[in-house]
Amino acid sequence: MVVLAVAVFVTLSSCALGCSGNMNPSELQSLKIQPAAVFKQMKNPQCEQTTLQQQQDALTQVNMKSLKQKTQSDFGTTLLTYGTSDEEEYDLRVSEEDSRRKSDPCFHYTVLDDAWRATNSTSKLRMCDRNVKWKGWYRLFYKGKSIQMPERCVPVNKCSTHAPLWLTGPHPKRRAGIVTRQVCGHWKKNCCAFKSSPIQVKKCLGNYYVYKFTKPVSCDLAYCADVNTLVCSRCRRNQSCVSRDKINWKCKTKKVIRRQVHFFASFPGQLSGKVNRIKYSKVLVNEGRAFSSRTGVFRAPVSGVYQFFFSTQTANAGQKTDLWLVVNGYWVAVSHTLVTRPSSVGSLATYMTFLRQGASVYVTHNCGKSWANAASMTITFGGSMLLQKK
Ligand SMILES: *[C@@H]1O[C@H](CO)[C@@H](O)[C@H](O)[C@H]1NC(C)=O
Ligand SMILES: *[C@@H]1O[C@H](CO)[C@@H](O)[C@H](O)[C@H]1NC(C)=O
Repeated sequence: MVVLAVAVFVTLSSCALGCSGNMNPSELQSLKIQPAAVFKQMKNPQCEQTTLQQQQDALTQVNMKSLKQKTQSDFGTTLLTYGTSDEEEYDLRVSEEDSRRKSDPCFHYTVLDDAWRATNSTSKLRMCDRNVKWKGWYRLFYKGKSIQMPERCVPVNKCSTHAPLWLTGPHPKRRAGIVTRQVCGHWKKNCCAFKSSPIQVKKCLGNYYVYKFTKPVSCDLAYCADVNTLVCSRCRRNQSCVSRDKINWKCKTKKVIRRQVHFFASFPGQLSGKVNRIKYSKVLVNEGRAFSSRTGVFRAPVSGVYQFFFSTQTANAGQKTDLWLVVNGYWVAVSHTLVTRPSSVGSLATYMTFLRQGASVYVTHNCGKSWANAASMTITFGGSMLLQKK
């Protein structure tokens, strides 16, 4: 398994003498030391083993992940939690899959297209939703057009009932998922004369809502459909339907906030042996404030394509070092150095990936020794968001 990243070889001793290429005394010296260094390498198989073990673990984790995703995909948006180090747990939002639709009310609702429910209906009918056997989820229509419940008090006797039922809270945003909303029935100048049983509401992709209606507390109460919201069915995907007064509704194009995310940090000292999470304390750039120097963890503030880089340097014969980039608990890339003679080796590794919002990225020092001082910038960690996804 060759996992060597971009390795920059800098032979300090020969460069000091002008990078001539000829053997200089210190190089000759190093040749003598070489057998000893090789021996030391052989004596130090533990690091190699740990690395291989980690790679195997990473593969196992990936397999487990796909397995978990398969079994949990039926439960809609599921948060999976992995225990990685003893300090942190990581959330992984399961990607949208077709199978999750099975349980999503946005795809499983009963069409409720009753013109008499309209807020402008002045019909003499006196309907009562207490007589309906409510089951599952419903989507309101008015003559074939998608429509919403009113978010305002509806005049008595409208919606072809006595006390029209309206939502006391706003319709939810899509990321809120399923929410519970209070429902009120207007009667005798009291907009909430009837505090009816609460219902559940969910916003769906495509600017429509589904409602889980329940039996109202009394008769004649009926759920209303607000004709003023008919305009909402014409909103595009990148628009939302808004209203200040809950009377006049209009489609408004969502502002896409372009976020900038860049960070660059260094560790100003030496690292030796296992360090679970390198706490890069010297932060030079932290645009978007997604990197924490306190924990050493970068958290993706939005979903998108990210690129990371991390580096290390080793000096002294017979030493190696392995730094791993850890994404959501998985070891995904290594920055590796190995020195067999008195010289120094720097290694810069880079990695690009798609991350969901909240994903965590940090660097772990698996083994060996990494050299840096306050000014050397040899142990560094940085990254940028290249592309923002919704
Ligand atoms: C109610 O509103 C709809 C949509 O604006 C309209 O087509 C219908 O004629 C109105 N009904 C009454 C009774 O005003
Ligand atoms: C919104 O989407 C439409 C296509 O559905 C597109 O023509 C329009 O440019 C988009 N507007 C913005 C601001 O993204």
